[in-house]
Amino acid sequence: MEPSLHNQALFAPRPKLTELPEWRRLQAHYAEVKRLHLRQLFAVDPQRAQRFWIEDLGLVLDYSKNRITDETLRLLLALAETPTIGLRDWIGAMFAGKRINRTENRAVLHVALRNPRTRPLLVEGEDLMEQAEGGPGVWPVLDQIFEFAHRVRAGLWLGYSGKPIRNVINIGIGGSDLGPAMAFEALKPYTDRRLTVRFVSNIDGAHLSEALHGLDPAETLFIIVSKTFTTLETITNAQSARQWLLNAASPKTEEAAQQAIARHFVAVSTNAEQVAAFGIDASRNMFGFWDWVGGRYSLCSAVGLALAVAIGPQNFQQLLQGFHAMDEHFRTRPFAQNMPVILALLGIWYNNFFGWPSYAVLPYDQSLARFTAYLQQLDMESNGKSARLRPTPGAEFVDWQTGPILWGEPGTNGQHAFFQLLHQGTKIVPADFIGFAQSHYRLNDHHSKLLANLLAQTEALAFGKTREELAAELSKAGSEGSGMSLEELLPHRLFPGNRPSNTILAEKLDPANLGKLIALYEHKIFVQGVIWDTNSFDQWGVELGKQLASKLLPAVENPQTPIPSLCSSTQRLLMWLRKRR
Ligand code: F6P
Repeated sequence: MEPSLHNQALFAPRPKLTELPEWRRLQAHYAEVKRLHLRQLFAVDPQRAQRFWIEDLGLVLDYSKNRITDETLRLLLALAETPTIGLRDWIGAMFAGKRINRTENRAVLHVALRNPRTRPLLVEGEDLMEQAEGGPGVWPVLDQIFEFAHRVRAGLWLGYSGKPIRNVINIGIGGSDLGPAMAFEALKPYTDRRLTVRFVSNIDGAHLSEALHGLDPAETLFIIVSKTFTTLETITNAQSARQWLLNAASPKTEEAAQQAIARHFVAVSTNAEQVAAFGIDASRNMFGFWDWVGGRYSLCSAVGLALAVAIGPQNFQQLLQGFHAMDEHFRTRPFAQNMPVILALLGIWYNNFFGWPSYAVLPYDQSLARFTAYLQQLDMESNGKSARLRPTPGAEFVDWQTGPILWGEPGTNGQHAFFQLLHQGTKIVPADFIGFAQSHYRLNDHHSKLLANLLAQTEALAFGKTREELAAELSKAGSEGSGMSLEELLPHRLFPGNRPSNTILAEKLDPANLGKLIALYEHKIFVQGVIWDTNSFDQWGVELGKQLASKLLPAVENPQTPIPSLCSSTQRLLMWLRKRR
């Protein structure tokens, strides 16, 4: 692929975001509406939940509990339509496989991974569904994944002693771990319970050791997932896993060792050379993907192999269909009814105009326990940037806020931890509440109580409790016990409200709905990156730490190695550690 295939217009320098008339109009509007309370907004417009509501694909986005008016929405949508930003062109360019990841000269085509087989996706002369970069395309690799998943699930994949595989260990980190690990938790009811599936990411030996605890090596298969196959954590864990396996198999010859590795190790990577160097037969036991799939956008590729084994090919296809449905929603729906676009604009409204630097994602579903961790990489590795993608001379860096800090925990656990700050703290943290009408776990009235809590929290955050309401309540109940007068107690028990949230609902947490939910956030993040003028698809910010770690390793490992020239703080810390190892 030639760099000339860049769409030059996409990268034409653009004015600073803060100098756009559309931005200035939003600033002026912000000054007018910033003090409006959600109480007022609902009082003057009781039906606003009918308008600030999008329902499509079985998903609901209720965004009425946001500090917006019709005018705010109009101005935000005008920002999205700003010709020099060119959001529509960028969306089109992504789906058409243009090389929009400019700093790495790559296309960004995670949407191709879930494109139906029957719908050709032609990029630079190739139908990616069948062929990509001269090798197998999306669907031949999916066939390979499904065939493998079937063999393991049916007990046909045998270990070195002839026993069928019963344990699957995914070794990977970042995008090569968070997606499958999160989705495995989310879709537990769909997994084959006869298999034990675990995920190892941390270089801390505790992670691998605990994951292997109690497992029979003869029944254990490792999936080594690494796009580059050079990531220190993954390769270190993979090497130790290989040693663990070979210690148990104790092969007599080199050939027997290779056979044992072939039965117990498969790789998912774009780097066949490094896979072979590790000792995995790349022609038989490697699942490929392509450099146009970013690590954090790779769940639908072979990176989801462990998940495909756990939930089976049919459920994995449902997941892909869910992703694709949201891709189509994003590509085709007008911005005003486009869930990713609306979520993105609301995020910008709070991040850039109100100046609130973080937002919380609060799934009211224990199965989504890892969802926020997954979104942290998706959002913060994508938009935690300062360099502009289309700078004007002398303005290479943004002087506006970009990616927010994302955090959260499943409800109701969060309620008993940090919700105090959400309700009464000095910081305002907009939040996304996610819930499902039905649960897979029919246990007494647990699910009703869970949903009641979700609804109660969004209501409490938005409307709070006024002085009058509280005074009436306390005078009825009395304030005895605290030793404080009613007047003294009131400020401590007031709820200011006016804390915005979105509520996202679906019928059930099934593979298709999980796919829709993930794609919703993927596209939201992309829209924000385009508006903020950053490249959402590189991650140069993780490199420096990696370089310094490899510089430090010899000195940590061996006390005789000279201390590298680093600042006095790092040197003293290193010396302190060395004396105690
Ligand atoms: O943390 C940096 C990063 O490159 C992520 O973007 C990526 O998901 C992760 O490391 C793992 O990379 P790889 O799949 O190449 O091992």
